[in-house]
Parts: sequence; C-alpha cells; structure tokens
Amino acid sequence: MLKDEIEKRAEIINRAIERFLPEMEPEGLYSAARHLIKAGGKRLRPVISLLIAEALGKDYKRIIPAAVSVETVHNFTLVHDDIMDRDEMRRGVPTVHRVYGEATAILAGDTLFAEAFKLLTKCDTEPENIVKAVETLSNVCIKICEGQYMDMSFESRDVISEEEYLEMVKLKTGVLIAASSSLPAILLGEDEDVVNSLWEYGILSGIAFQIHDDVLDLTENTGKDWGSDLLKGKKTLIVIKAFEDGVKLNTFGKQVASEEEIRYDIEKLKKCGAIDYAVIRAREYAEQAKERLTILPESDAREVLIELTDYLVRRKK
Ligand code: IPE
Ligand code: IPE
Ligand code: MG
Ligand code: MG
Ligand code: MG
Repeated sequence: MLKDEIEKRAEIINRAIERFLPEMEPEGLYSAARHLIKAGGKRLRPVISLLIAEALGKDYKRIIPAAVSVETVHNFTLVHDDIMDRDEMRRGVPTVHRVYGEATAILAGDTLFAEAFKLLTKCDTEPENIVKAVETLSNVCIKICEGQYMDMSFESRDVISEEEYLEMVKLKTGVLIAASSSLPAILLGEDEDVVNSLWEYGILSGIAFQIHDDVLDLTENTGKDWGSDLLKGKKTLIVIKAFEDGVKLNTFGKQVASEEEIRYDIEKLKKCGAIDYAVIRAREYAEQAKERLTILPESDAREVLIELTDYLVRRKK
C-alpha cells in the first residue's frame, strides 16, 4: 500500500534527521529550529528523493543527506512563511514564532537554511556532483524567495491572472519539489536528459501540490489555520476563478472573521464551481507530472512514485 511505502521511507528520514540534525547549544535557538521538524509533517519531499534514487537503480543511502537537506530547506521556508502569513498553527502545534518569538524564529529559519547546505556536502559521491547539487539548491532557494515575494505582493493587487498565479506557485513550491526529484539524479551522476525530466516532474507535481494545498486551506482541518488564505487576501486559483465570475467574498483580506462568516464564503466558493475548477486543474498537472516519470526504467519504486503523485492531489492534509 502507498501509505506503508511512504511511512517506511519517512522512518528512514526521521532516523537520519536525528543523526544529522542534533540539538546543540544554545538550547533556546536549537529547540526553536527543531520545533517544526519534531512536530512531524508528511516528509513527502525527502521520500520522493529516496524513491528517485531507488528508481534509478542506485543505493538510496548515498543520497540520504540530500533528502534530509531538502526537508531542512522546507522547514526553513515554513518557519519564515508562518511569520510572513501571520499564521498561528502548523502540523497541529503552535508556529515557531508564537512559541519562541519572532526574532528567535527568524534565526531558527536561518540556522536550518545553512544546515541544509552543510548536509548536501555529506553525500557519498564525486565532488563535482556535489558542486552541481549546491548550485541547484542555491538557485532553488533564490527562486523560493522570488515566489514568496510574489505571493505577498499579490495581496495588495486587485487583479491577478491565472498565469501570474501559476508562475508564483511554480517558484514558491514547485522548485523545491523539483529539487527533491532532481538532486538524487544530479548527485548520482545521471545524464542531463534524466535530470531535466525529473526537474520537470517536480515542477509540475509541485504546481499540482500547491493548487491542492489552496483547496485544503478551505475544505479540511489540516493542522494549520483554517481559512487563512481568505483572511490574508491570498490570490489563490480558487479566488481568481471566483472573482472572474463576479463572486463577492465578505471575509477576503479582512484578517479576522468569525467561523460562521468564513463558512459562508467557502459555501459561495463551492457553489460557483471555483473549488471544483481548482481540483480539476491540480489533477491535470499531476497527470502531466506522471508522464515525465517515463524517463525512469520500469520498477516498483517508479510505480510508488506514480501513486504518490496521485496522492499529492488527493491528500486530506
Ligand atoms: C506545506 O507543505 C507548504 C506548502 C508548500 C503548501 P507540506 O504540506 O508538505 O507540509 P508538511 O511538511 O507535510 O507539514
Ligand atoms: C507555501 O505557501 C510556500 C512556502 C512555504 C514556501 P503557503 O503559505 O500556502 O503554505 P502553508 O499553507 O502556510 O503551508
Ligand atoms: Mg503560509
Ligand atoms: Mg505563504
Ligand atoms: Mg497554504
């Protein structure tokens, strides 16, 4: 079952996290830096990395530090994202800045960011592959910042096009999933066409993942602040579609609203078909992503990757 396949590999990652990311002094900084990592999370990005290495017919142990590195970058972005989005809950626990204060949360994020690059150098491969991987991850981090800046700046603009939204999510979310899928190939010395297809796989599944995440923000209890995107005035694909159809939302950009008011707006988004529209678009991107996996030879790991790609747009949290 897919769940077991994911869990088995997430366990490997959790053990590697304990080994590669120990808590050091000063205790206050490291407990802030480890707060979210310890709270769990799905670990989908490092699981993708392990599965890619397996599907390439290689020993996944060689790239475990890179898999942990990608999860570390992910956690860094989450700590800073929660400050920027003024969110209070993640992974079912209070956000880092709420527990430790904003200044320590910024430092916790910075620490994770640097630790990620240190980890990447620990992979069992030739130095030239490590240099290429460091270059890729650096570019990815820059792109995430560009995407996060666009996400923020869209809040104060009235109209955002679907193309602009897609570019923004490609940057804020797609490129890190693309790092998860392509870094193993880079580190294991695969040909450029393999690296490129795996990069495209990550971009397409990352776009699918983020569109679905925007749906979950409205429809599920995910362990994060429910309806946060509405209150913050985030221009998600759902809202872009609804505004095109002339729908008016009372809570949009209001920062605070009652549960009843949020529920009322979500009902409107359901009725006008904007949520269904996003669900369909997410599935289309997932289908396109799966096509890129045909670059890999047939294997059990490739089958798991195909199933996991479907799960990205069907998950409930
Ligand atoms: C959350 O990612 C951030 C987004 C890109 C939407 P995940 O949904 O993978 O978060 P965790 O790691 O499982 O908590
Ligand atoms: C996720 O965007 C992108 C990054 C964290 C880089 P969101 O702001 O939608 O993520 P969540 O919903 O807070 O996890
Ligand atoms: Mg957020
Ligand atoms: Mg955000
Ligand atoms: Mg979200």
